[in-house]
Amino acid sequence: MGYQAKLRVWRGDDDGGALQDYSVEVNEGEVVLDIIHRLQQTQTPDLAVRWNCKAGKCGSCSAEINGRPRLMCMTRMSTFAENEVITVTPMRTFPVIRDLVNDVSFNFEKAREIPSFRPPKDLQPGEYRMQQEDVNRSQEFRKCIECFLCQNVCHVIRDHEDNKKAFAGPRFLMRMAELDMHPLDTHPNRAEEVQDEHGLGYCNITKCCTEVCPEHIKITDNALIPMKERVADRKYDPVVWLGNKLFRRQ
Ligand code: SF4
Ligand code: SF4
Ligand code: FES
Repeated sequence: MGYQAKLRVWRGDDDGGALQDYSVEVNEGEVVLDIIHRLQQTQTPDLAVRWNCKAGKCGSCSAEINGRPRLMCMTRMSTFAENEVITVTPMRTFPVIRDLVNDVSFNFEKAREIPSFRPPKDLQPGEYRMQQEDVNRSQEFRKCIECFLCQNVCHVIRDHEDNKKAFAGPRFLMRMAELDMHPLDTHPNRAEEVQDEHGLGYCNITKCCTEVCPEHIKITDNALIPMKERVADRKYDPVVWLGNKLFRRQ
């Protein structure tokens, strides 16, 4: 049975905007993105919204629904009461282009700053050999769909614009952890760099990033905390420090 949902959507651009109320039809089995599309089709043809797959795999439809960072295509309308006001706003941490569309170029800049995987010079593609355990460890991190909800929710940059320069954010700290754990990576001082140049020290393991990840990646437990331990070992344990100086991975 259909009903009319009370929708409150942020409309505006980088110069400012406001929440506007709408009443939109909802049918059984629909998700928030369906309702936003129906609003666009029937009342607000100029409403800007970004999406691609409608299957939780492209990472395009990130927004805040009742203040919680979520994918619009993976949020069922049945999770809300029929008389509840559902507020949809763009992600708060990134600038707005228009309506529900953010400018997420901050994330692409951070991605470019990460030194890429550096395999041993004498190995050709096809000659890489790894333990299954090592493969499994990085497999979890490779599920990332780059929705940037974790980046959006992290208080280090959500509330402090001035931290953005020095802090890569959970998605990219996780990427650096993945590379540092890779048995064939020969980058000599990734752990030092992630601490000194990409702001791992700002993270105080609140786990908010893990809570919003639609891929259920254990960002904090499996990437950030192990990375902090590796940094502590390499930077502050005198025995490990000396060993690294003498027998650094080639
Ligand atoms: S655990 Fe660290 S990276 Fe994740 S949200 Fe908290 S402070 Fe940010
Ligand atoms: S780690 Fe999770 S929340 Fe962060 S960008 Fe990837 S999929 Fe999105
Ligand atoms: S539209 Fe692709 S993740 Fe939502």
